[in-house]
Amino acid sequence: MVLEEKLALDGGPQAKRTPFGKGTRHGEAEKQLLGEVIDSDLLFYFLGTKVFELQREFAAMYGRKHCIACSSGTAAVHIALGALELPAGSEVITSSITDMGSLTGLLYQGLVPVFADVEPETLNMDPASVAANITGKTRAILVVHHAGLAADMDAMLDIGRKHNVRVVEDCAQAYCCDYKGRLAGTMGEISAFSLNHFKHITCGSGGMVLTNDDRLRYLASLFLDKCYQREEKIRNPFFLAPNYQMTELQGAVALAQIRKVQAIVDRRNRLGERLNAHLREIPGVAPQKVPEGLKHTYFLYLFRLDLETLGCSAAEFSRALAAEGVPNSAQLITGGRPVYLYDIFQKRSALPGTEWPFSPGRHYRKGDCPVAEAAFDCWITMNIYEHYTEEDIDQIALGIGKVAHHFAHVRV
Ligand SMILES: Cc1ncc(COP(=O)(O)O)c(C=O)c1O
Repeated sequence: MVLEEKLALDGGPQAKRTPFGKGTRHGEAEKQLLGEVIDSDLLFYFLGTKVFELQREFAAMYGRKHCIACSSGTAAVHIALGALELPAGSEVITSSITDMGSLTGLLYQGLVPVFADVEPETLNMDPASVAANITGKTRAILVVHHAGLAADMDAMLDIGRKHNVRVVEDCAQAYCCDYKGRLAGTMGEISAFSLNHFKHITCGSGGMVLTNDDRLRYLASLFLDKCYQREEKIRNPFFLAPNYQMTELQGAVALAQIRKVQAIVDRRNRLGERLNAHLREIPGVAPQKVPEGLKHTYFLYLFRLDLETLGCSAAEFSRALAAEGVPNSAQLITGGRPVYLYDIFQKRSALPGTEWPFSPGRHYRKGDCPVAEAAFDCWITMNIYEHYTEEDIDQIALGIGKVAHHFAHVRV
């Protein structure tokens, strides 16, 4: 195949010529553990064994003292913030490009999100913007490791220490993600993971929280369970807490899945690096930067367009690439805008009939995070799955090369 070939959009042959490699995510290991749960006739985590086993095993994998399993990644972030006992009205700095699940629990806790801009080459939170957003009300930084690449944790931890602000990690997209010899999820005081359908590993819906701190573990275990003190056999709730229990069915599947996660991440990393090597040879596109000492786990594969070289919009590029048989999006994960431009922040409409928890002086405006806003004009998001083959990656690269060549040279 040659770059000069007519675009598939214009009637030429597709760059993706063979079907993508396929694989199943769930198999014998999940069936076995699920069967054991059914045979036990107990689906409730506190009386069962699988959720506790999952917690022990995931904590050990990460070299952390405690894991608390729960019903979703959204729940995990909420539990992490709830366990920190941050006073309502406190500000929490987080990313302007993240899933709503990072923000739901924050708002329910009466905390006020403050959005940091992102770095232009990684789209992870920019430490300079985090530092610039610290105020007398800041109590925590919720670091989001976006797309499977760890954010600049050295800088985040420095800011946390300097301003006496807690650091929480949202690792929903970042399993087994190396950051200079440490794992994302082991550097903040407490961290949250997701097991939703789209993540590296899944039990349909689920979440996990990691911490080394005994008190945070205790509060987290209450927070997911209506503040019932089951361990002490006491029922006397002393704070507001939802029911975010993980069932034994989810626990069984999650246990089988965490045993596979390292292999999944390693495979995605190899495929991602292969695609990076191709993209470095294509004028007009650049892969997401992977800073020295970090391992990208490719929850998502992102690349940036040089709009001057290509002379097209991200939407035009995306459409032409999709026609080549390469699924992709020009909207990043948020659906086309930084999260603070969602109606909930623009209209301050988290809860009916009140602007709570938004503080009177805190408004979210277009222009707040210029790098994040501009990213929607020039980034393309794709998935690379562990069951893809090397040939798939090479054909994806050919598709990107063909589209880039078309816009840079053919189109007038
Ligand atoms: C960064 C981030 N945080 C939190 C969540 C919420 O996870 P869940 O969908 O399991 O509730 C997600 C899910 O997409 C996410 O990507």
